[in-house]
Amino acid sequence: MREARYDAVADFYDAGFSDPADPVLTTLLDLLGPPRGRRVLDLACGHGRVTRDLARRGATATGADLSGALLAKARAVADPPGIRYVHADAADALDLADGSFDAVVCNFGLADIDDLDGALATTRRVLRPGGTFVFSILHPCFAGSAAVSGTWPTTGTYYDEGFWTATGEQSSLRRRVGANHRTLSTYLNALARRGLLVTEMREPRPPAEWTTGDRHEAARQPVFLVARCTLT
Ligand SMILES: C[S@@+](CC[C@H](N)C(=O)[O-])C[C@H]1O[C@@H](n2cnc3c(N)ncnc32)[C@H](O)[C@@H]1O
Repeated sequence: MREARYDAVADFYDAGFSDPADPVLTTLLDLLGPPRGRRVLDLACGHGRVTRDLARRGATATGADLSGALLAKARAVADPPGIRYVHADAADALDLADGSFDAVVCNFGLADIDDLDGALATTRRVLRPGGTFVFSILHPCFAGSAAVSGTWPTTGTYYDEGFWTATGEQSSLRRRVGANHRTLSTYLNALARRGLLVTEMREPRPPAEWTTGDRHEAARQPVFLVARCTLT
């Protein structure tokens, strides 16, 4: 299996990234629609915050992640019961059966996943025909500001794809774990190749705290991208 970069930052991530009122997550769940009665895979589930939310709302929830340390944190929370967690690379995830999910969600996971095409192939494989894929990412067109790193390094351009590590003072997570930058067309073309038809996209505004201080300049740009796709 690939190196799990989040193993080294599991405590940091668990402590700082658990806000259930996060506007991006709210948008993602809105695009997903009511989870009750649906079999939902939370791909790149991390410490399971979204998986638990889905299970609480009545989904049969499965979480899959590369980081054993984050999965240990997810498994340590026993409420609600009945969630299945799988230690897997999204690019193969062979423990997940073909056509066994009505929906796949991926909240801020795609830029962490090194093999985008592999992850989308898995998504296609595990979804039933007509199933739903929803994902959120930092907007590929977000250039950032002095305080907040964008999606590509200030030393390069939007067109330079690849893995990099942020330097922005307020980009506390990306300074630690880095991210894969891909252009918007790379994302959309990769989805199309796997038969994932985009049916709705949203660009939620950043939270109110971004409208003042160091983040103000960055908040003038598109910061987040959330989309729903249907497997054709
Ligand atoms: C920013 S975190 C998001 C976690 C979770 N979705 C959330 O909303 O808190 C990105 C996650 O992607 C996971 N990840 C990175 N590469 C992966 C891969 N190849 N397969 C599965 N998970 C991966 C990391 O371990 C990490 O948990």
